[in-house]
Amino acid sequence: MSEIAPSILAADFNRLGEQIKEVSLAGIKILHIDVMDGMFVPSISFGMPLIESIRKESNLFFDVHLMIKEPCRYLNEFAKAGADGITVHKEACSDLRKTLSSIKELGISPSVSINPETSVDAIKDVLDMVDMVLVMSVSPGSGGQPFSPAALNKVKKLDIIRKQRKLDYKIEIDGGVNKENIGSIVKSGADILVSGTGVFNGIISENIHSLNKSMEINL
Ligand code: DX5
Ligand code: ZN
Repeated sequence: MSEIAPSILAADFNRLGEQIKEVSLAGIKILHIDVMDGMFVPSISFGMPLIESIRKESNLFFDVHLMIKEPCRYLNEFAKAGADGITVHKEACSDLRKTLSSIKELGISPSVSINPETSVDAIKDVLDMVDMVLVMSVSPGSGGQPFSPAALNKVKKLDIIRKQRKLDYKIEIDGGVNKENIGSIVKSGADILVSGTGVFNGIISENIHSLNKSMEINL
């Protein structure tokens, strides 16, 4: 069964704690946390102090998406802050294998992400090291962008590879997920669907309910 991971990038930071409780009450188990450094992506979001403070109040799985250059510099700190899973970008790491091993050594679930212009082939050598692959369906750096359908072929390819190679990584998709496209994304093989504006714009519980519903209808 596929599940939604709300991205707090689209939350109202003035009411962040309350909104995280709202997503939990709606049955959500994974919280997607977008960290941006102003280098790997143009924008800057938030970092360790925010994660540390929401960790005190939440038992959700913290899926920390590091859109930062050479994330190996900060793995310890994100582990200490309360990450359960850490995703690093193939494009941001000079030694991807070493970075993923370091995440695992910290007892955190390792994941790798590819930007829209990066192929699945570029990460085929690390697929046996990860618990999850994150396919970007928009250029990383901001919420509210339109979904790029080209990402569906990557999801399909990753699904085929995991069957062929008997691997068990999950496939996550991030960017532009909405009620209209969620069905086709799930059909292509995605397990975790990140949604920022789709969850936090408007009434959270209703948004989650209708995303779940659209997922079921399209199955
Ligand atoms: C984009 C982030 C996404 C973003 C998704 O760089 O990685 O997680 O918050 O937002 P929506 O769902 O609004 O496209
Ligand atoms: Zn993200």
